[in-house]
Amino acid sequence: MSVRRLAPDHVQPASFAFSAANENWADEQIAKYPEGRQASAVIPLLWKAQEQHHGWVPRAAIEAVAKKLAMAPIRVLEIATFYTMFNLQPVGEHYVQLCGTTPCALRGAEALKKVCEDVIGPQSTVSADGKLSWLEVECLGACCNAPMAQINFDYYEDLTPENFRALLDDLRHGRPTKPGPQVDRSGSEPLGGGETLKDKALYDGSMIGAGNWQKRITEQREAAIKVASEKAAAEAKAKAEAEAAAATGKAGPTDTKAAPAPEAAAPGRPKPSEVKQPASAAQDTPSATSKAIKDGGPKPAATAPAAKAPAAKTSAAKVSAAKVSAAKAPATRSAAAEVPAGKAPARAAQAPASTAETKPELLAAARNNAPDDLELIWGVGPKLAKMLNEMGVWHYDQIATWTQAELAWVDARLTGFKGRATRDDWISQSKKLATGWRPQSALGDKPVK
Ligand code: FES
Repeated sequence: MSVRRLAPDHVQPASFAFSAANENWADEQIAKYPEGRQASAVIPLLWKAQEQHHGWVPRAAIEAVAKKLAMAPIRVLEIATFYTMFNLQPVGEHYVQLCGTTPCALRGAEALKKVCEDVIGPQSTVSADGKLSWLEVECLGACCNAPMAQINFDYYEDLTPENFRALLDDLRHGRPTKPGPQVDRSGSEPLGGGETLKDKALYDGSMIGAGNWQKRITEQREAAIKVASEKAAAEAKAKAEAEAAAATGKAGPTDTKAAPAPEAAAPGRPKPSEVKQPASAAQDTPSATSKAIKDGGPKPAATAPAAKAPAAKTSAAKVSAAKVSAAKAPATRSAAAEVPAGKAPARAAQAPASTAETKPELLAAARNNAPDDLELIWGVGPKLAKMLNEMGVWHYDQIATWTQAELAWVDARLTGFKGRATRDDWISQSKKLATGWRPQSALGDKPVK
């Protein structure tokens, strides 16, 4: 460790003054601080004084800085003697600060000290030619490349007695040197290449129990997209079928354009395939279908008897369309609701009010990718939960807000479990679950009737 003491009188200059350029520079630094705070520029000014005076700060420079900043000389002396970057003794043209702290010591700094003593001489003395001086200092923060030394403003690392001796010789004779590591590496990477952090598992989350989370999330996303697209396709198909059935029903006995077989549209060419009308239409309008076949195809609307024109909207056709819609369309009303008052055929009029259905709001995927555990609803097992998810039901709060008509819509689509939603009162159960309440059993709490 350096001795923080001013150099002896015989090496101290009689006076010190900044050069004109440095005086201007000092004024610029002082101007950066508010009025009355000029003393804040003391360290930059001492640094500039050291640079101007061959790398060390004489007493005269300390006094000149104090005067310029209107400070007591002792205050500047305190600073100059505290910070080790200020050299209080003369230094060589190449000033070697050799790290002697533990990591560097363990890596051979002691041998380097001997080199300094051999090549330069004792610490804090300048070599006879004025080229070199050295000082042991504390850790300079390049321990990973120990041992090392700072020479003027450059670090020289991975030193050995041999390369250090050669380095000092180059400096003394003005030959170019290479700062940084003196071995075959460019920074502080391990010698010979990296040996750690090579395991790919470090980067896929498996080390912290996350498994292959990227693959899992990708699979979940793809599954959600698949479910949504299948659902959309099923809805589109159901809608198309419902529209086709409705069109067939409305066309009446004189219009077979909606028949599945295109040949059926050709007048005068009745084909057996025409009987392959949708089952509902065939059942609901048997006379109409058979009449179309018998008549040999469609007839122009203009030729249809006026009395028969309303037949395209017969009660039978209306009921047929309504039945298809209720069975296949995503959002339908009851057959009874479809039939105008006073025109309802006996069969539609008899439809019970309880069959009214409304499609509830459904989701393409669980919100935030965090579906509720629908199996906590009493009566819902893995199969029903899967069916609900495929339908677009993921959360308790979805079910909790259903109306009876929406409950009926869902109930009608629980293949193999029809009526289960109403029987087990899913709405009441879901209202409780949506509040955060949880049943003691994983099966849920059986609703009390
Ligand atoms: S111990 Fe030498 S640089 Fe840190």
